[in-house]
Amino acid sequence: MSFYITTPIYYVNGRPHIGHAYTTIAADTITRYTRMKGENAFFMTGTDEHGQKVLEAAEARGMDPKAHCDDMVVSWKQMMSEMDIGFDRFIRTTDPDHQALVVAVLSKLWDQELIYKDSYTGWYSTAAERFWTEKDLVDGKCPDSGQPVEKITETNYFFKMGQYRDELVAHIEQNPGFIQPESRRNEVLGFLRKDLGDLCISRPKSRMSWGIELPFDSEFVTYVWFDALLNYLTGAGYHPDGDDSYLDRWPADFHVLGKDILTTHAVYWCTMLLAMEVPLPTCIYAHGWWTATDGSKMSKSLGNAIDVSLLANEFGVDPTRFFFLREIRFGADGGFSYDGFLTRYNADLANDLGNMVHRGLSMTRNWLGGTVPEWGPLNEADEALRSLAARAVVDFDRHLVGMHFSAALEALWELVRAGNKYIDEQQPWALNKAGNTERLATVLRHVLEISFFAGTLLACVMPSRSADLLQRLGRSPEAGADWLRYTLGGSTDQVLNALPAGLALTVGDPLFPRFREMPEGIAKLLETAEPAPKKKKDKKKAPKAAAKSAASEPISFEDFQKVQLCTGRILEVADHPNAERLFVLKVDIGEEAPRQIVAGIKSRYSADELVGRTCVVVANLKPAKLRGVESQGMLLAAGAKEVVDLVSVGADPGTIVR
Ligand code: MSP
Repeated sequence: MSFYITTPIYYVNGRPHIGHAYTTIAADTITRYTRMKGENAFFMTGTDEHGQKVLEAAEARGMDPKAHCDDMVVSWKQMMSEMDIGFDRFIRTTDPDHQALVVAVLSKLWDQELIYKDSYTGWYSTAAERFWTEKDLVDGKCPDSGQPVEKITETNYFFKMGQYRDELVAHIEQNPGFIQPESRRNEVLGFLRKDLGDLCISRPKSRMSWGIELPFDSEFVTYVWFDALLNYLTGAGYHPDGDDSYLDRWPADFHVLGKDILTTHAVYWCTMLLAMEVPLPTCIYAHGWWTATDGSKMSKSLGNAIDVSLLANEFGVDPTRFFFLREIRFGADGGFSYDGFLTRYNADLANDLGNMVHRGLSMTRNWLGGTVPEWGPLNEADEALRSLAARAVVDFDRHLVGMHFSAALEALWELVRAGNKYIDEQQPWALNKAGNTERLATVLRHVLEISFFAGTLLACVMPSRSADLLQRLGRSPEAGADWLRYTLGGSTDQVLNALPAGLALTVGDPLFPRFREMPEGIAKLLETAEPAPKKKKDKKKAPKAAAKSAASEPISFEDFQKVQLCTGRILEVADHPNAERLFVLKVDIGEEAPRQIVAGIKSRYSADELVGRTCVVVANLKPAKLRGVESQGMLLAAGAKEVVDLVSVGADPGTIVR
């Protein structure tokens, strides 16, 4: 049995952007982690090459559709190679084995009378490649793409999708993990509550000929989605008349996809599988969307698509992978900004991780001869660090296998930040000065062990930098994987005891050099993209985004004193009933009852990450209703448009902040 994970297969009507990279990086990370844990894994991605959209793109270039696809595939493969995506198969719907499977499945369903011919009138959207009924339309346009639709009457072939509705609903209800996250599951159940019609699975060649011909009517080609979804079974080696050997790989453990194509997967695909009597996938995971910072859709045609190569060239491939997985919760939407990227890079990679690793390695070189030191007796601070590490590895694993990338990384970062704090408190420089070599060795050994811990867990997210880090510690990624298996096997008592004493270390240049300003290539792009009036600003004096909004009129101290700030501990976190991006929090600020505060921090934090956190609250803000829910205060957070970090403090709830 192997773990089988897929991404959507991407349309080749344009070049890839960060949205496509995002799904693929997530699937790659899970694959790498699964392998580290010693399991077999098969990861498939690829391209969706038939249908009207691709045909139109080819025509616009004056090219034969297949030649157009061959050409476009190069840029998709290049993006994947740039992002260090280690797929096992890159499937194309023009691959002969895939085309043969589509034909075989169509023949089988036709023979079983699960496909029939009928005349149909509907509103056709080229952008969404599908028909809509009158009531589906929004302002007379396609509800998905917002593009115009065309009324078409034509004879077509239909798959008897509707008859599988009840079976599918029962499966979703009996398998809570089948569609994730939970909110998406409810969405699908809501969709299925309405009548489920049959699915039009053909296009007359007279209108659109770029597709796989129906085996029972040469006047028609297969509808692009019916063709594309079957790629997942092609990858498993399925054949309708074949044996069960495809079950070595199937059912897929994860279909990872964006929320835009959840219905096609959860409903079209799953009913197709029910008709074929093939087991349903274990989990369909629909993640959120990367948008522009104002929440608007990112697309090539709007000219606001972020070029993933630029990010990789300017910040590095691994930091780019890290950013996407760390910055927002996998199910939530998030606005992309270069400022946000820079802040995240400097805070997490340069300051927290890079700094800790560099401090550990260079102090060991300077004062202990540059080899892994022996342990001395342990004190309370050491024990606390070890318990935290034991917890962190288990939390990291739990979150990662559930696709909660951001929470997994936060669990690891808790340890990394604790590592830096430990250095500050244990003061190895003072121990060195006092000649207390035994304690110095124990302290630095802990820092090196945490570095190994971080390097190992990060191998799935940042493969190259992780290998580099481990190499500096004299270890290999394989040694890291052995340690992970051993540790997760129950031996967390040895969690910070992986490095053999005496091993030679290499300090090297900083692993994540700090960016004092926006890298040149991006700064240039921003300059040219900036609207005319802004260009007049003196670049050197231009304030940062955060400072900009604050730097208007100076206020008096009395004015400032009007703002009552105090600490508040987050007790409960719930979804806002009417707003996707908001949480409703219960916050203890030392009053009799907790305050209810509505906060737009959902794209940045999961509920788990927030509960127990102590933040700074504006306590005397006039209560206001936010999307129908009263908010009795506000949390302070860093970040101009997007929240980068909540201001957190270590003090009891209700402590005055001034
Ligand atoms: N060809 C179909 C999928 C068929 S799968 C059997 C398709 N292709 S697509 O090129 O439009 O890719 C859509 C997928 O790209 C989304 O589901 C998501 O995985 C990813 N993304 C595209 N833009 C995105 C964002 N802006 N943000 C996040 N992911 C997005 O649909």
